[in-house]
Amino acid sequence: MRLWLWVIGIIVVIGAGIGIYMLTPVTGPARDLTLTGDAERGAYLIRLGGCVTCHTDPKTKDALLAGLQSAGLKTPFGNFYPPNITSSRSAGIGNWTLAQFSRAMSDGEGPQGHLYPAFPFDAYTLMSDQEIADLFAALQAVPAIDTPSHPHEVGFPFNIRLAMAGWKHLFFHPQRFVADPAHSEQWNRGKYIVFGPGHCVTCHSPRNLLGGIDAGAELTGNPAGGTGGKAPSLLKDALARHEYDAAALAETLSDGFTPGFDTLGGAMGEVVADETSQWTEADRAAVAAYLMGAE
Ligand code: HEC
Ligand code: HEC
Repeated sequence: MRLWLWVIGIIVVIGAGIGIYMLTPVTGPARDLTLTGDAERGAYLIRLGGCVTCHTDPKTKDALLAGLQSAGLKTPFGNFYPPNITSSRSAGIGNWTLAQFSRAMSDGEGPQGHLYPAFPFDAYTLMSDQEIADLFAALQAVPAIDTPSHPHEVGFPFNIRLAMAGWKHLFFHPQRFVADPAHSEQWNRGKYIVFGPGHCVTCHSPRNLLGGIDAGAELTGNPAGGTGGKAPSLLKDALARHEYDAAALAETLSDGFTPGFDTLGGAMGEVVADETSQWTEADRAAVAAYLMGAE
């Protein structure tokens, strides 16, 4: 009898410990929120970050960033509808502060609680404080559209935002990008885009049963197929087998044609149209140089 009480006591203590651990916030380094944003630089970051791809409905392309309405992003956990992030004060983020925006982008925290990782905040967390301020300025300049966001279609237990606390503890590392001085500026820029704003890593990596990226297997491809279809490996050797070199890869990111005369389709077609084709040549070249293993 006494022994059982001890066992139950220990289980309760361990359980409470895990509970408290899971509920402690996962936050990265504090951001400088006194910076003044530049909407013009931010407009480029909207393209670099591919916000348009997810937050604009393909059926109403002129409703820029007003959220998905016709179909959500399909995941094993349910359908997610990226919300309205226009400057609408009723339906968008028009009455948000820079601090709130920064928390969403850097720590995956929204006004309603934890944000779902279908929003790649685990990539955007790498962006600099100035870029977050610039992006916010640009979004506040996006014409307001008052269409309310479509609710997500997710079942129990994923409809409980608190459940994301555990996910964050397991798979989310809030941090800023740190350049590697052993490599060139171009290589660092490419790496930053691939893992940060360009979020190539979110589709081109395998995921475990809980939807976390398999640690150590980044960019090896997602043969199981994610939201956007089966994404091939972006490792140098795999790309070289598909006849890419740095120049050809930069070209593909610009026009969507592969060296083997295929057209990139599905999710990648959208990424090229809304995102990489609108980048500067220097940014496409940096991503290509990094992926093809330049120094
Ligand atoms: C892969 C798709 C995807 C991309 C790319 C994406 N988002 Fe989102 N975003 C989402 C989803 C899904 C949500 C909803 C998350 C939730 O409800 O927890 C979201 C939520 C947000 C929110 C929180 C809004 C709210 O009302 O709580 C902000 C702010 C946001 N995104 C900004 C951006 C910006 C800025 C970019 C580009 C740099 C971007 N998103 C790119 C999918 C995406
Ligand atoms: C929303 C998911 C998604 C994102 C984000 C994404 N990709 Fe892709 N990518 C795909 C899919 C799916 C394919 C396969 C397309 C096809 O077969 O037509 C693909 C194909 C490719 C290919 C062709 C590879 C080959 O072997 O022919 C390249 C190169 C590529 N992506 C580079 C990138 C880069 C660089 C980024 C970041 C800027 C990126 N992708 C971001 C989903 C994505």
